[in-house]
Amino acid sequence: MNQLIHTLEQMLDQLNKKQDSNTFELISLLLSEANLHSQPTWAAHMTPTVSQSALIGQLIAGLHNGNLLSANLYPRLAEIEAQLISWFCLLFKQKNGHFTHGSSYGNLEALWQAREHRKTSSNIVYGSSSAHYSVAKSCRILGLEFRPIATDQQGRVQITELKAACQKDRPLAIVATAGTSSCGAIDSLSECIDIAHSVNSWCHIDAAWGGALALLENQPYLSGIEHADSLCFDPHKSLGQAKPCSILVYQHKLEPFTDLDVDYLTLTPKKTIAGSYGGELFLPLWFCLQVNQDEIINHIKQRLRQAELFAQILKDKTGWTVWHSPTGIVCFEPSDLQGLSLLEKKGIFSRAQINSLDVYRAVFANPTTTARALITELEPYF
Ligand SMILES: Cc1ncc(COP(=O)(O)O)c(C=O)c1O
Repeated sequence: MNQLIHTLEQMLDQLNKKQDSNTFELISLLLSEANLHSQPTWAAHMTPTVSQSALIGQLIAGLHNGNLLSANLYPRLAEIEAQLISWFCLLFKQKNGHFTHGSSYGNLEALWQAREHRKTSSNIVYGSSSAHYSVAKSCRILGLEFRPIATDQQGRVQITELKAACQKDRPLAIVATAGTSSCGAIDSLSECIDIAHSVNSWCHIDAAWGGALALLENQPYLSGIEHADSLCFDPHKSLGQAKPCSILVYQHKLEPFTDLDVDYLTLTPKKTIAGSYGGELFLPLWFCLQVNQDEIINHIKQRLRQAELFAQILKDKTGWTVWHSPTGIVCFEPSDLQGLSLLEKKGIFSRAQINSLDVYRAVFANPTTTARALITELEPYF
């Protein structure tokens, strides 16, 4: 570490000697951009401040830089990866899995596997109209047809509509969302899984945002996930991790590429979409868990408490309609929608739609975001 700090000092010194004020200015602009995420008023997006331990983990990953495409060369790294995957399998009650670069990859690969394991000639994929756009994108890439199903007033897929659609046209797969991007709605997962299995189809859970709830005790929202065929989750959204850090878990074995001729590897390459990858996907999270697992759980509880408090104060002090998701997203419809655009420009809130209704969105991705600070920003508009 001392060596690293010494090198950093040398580099800054070099820039200084070159009188490269441009680079200095850019670095300071970059850092102030990053500073946004640690403000108590940061609620625009699912981007957390990276925890100190995760930063150290990133450094360790960078220093290691092994490629798990040749896992035999890096037994320690492979061991840590396997350990962490087992931990996630236990958490989400699935049988195997691997790290990915994000849930867009997770959704793509899960649907590709659904296609490989197909028990039907159907190319149809159902998901709610609030499913993340990467689901429709994945279908387009894979030559599948995404058919959105209407949502209820809370942004959850309408189960009766889903059932009727499945009876009319059997799907290849259903994608249920545990924490929609717009308002954090959680579809009725057990019902989606039951419906999919009743027609012999695959059920994938996109828990990119809401999967963090699995770390809390006595929460009912993810019940039934042990019957899902696959599930993806992004620690880089809700567990204070740097991008990329995402996990995809399955009940099934990945279908291999059997016919690939690889003339430079001694072992068959992994059966995943990604090629080269290393500890950057999981060492930061592993290090955080080693240092203090309770801290991760406390941060989740803290941000969910702040979300609840924010929703409560808004309900008490305004006549606005408020949507509060247990995943830590609060949406609201102020009486003057345009009036708040300044707060959107300042990066405090973002805009979203629930059932085609324009709303403002506060995302509690960070334990440092506070209800009080957000309310202070909003008070002039009450
Ligand atoms: C519910 C949901 N699924 C999938 C994704 C895609 O995740 P990523 O950006 O990590 O690819 C997002 C991103 O916000 C999301 O909110």
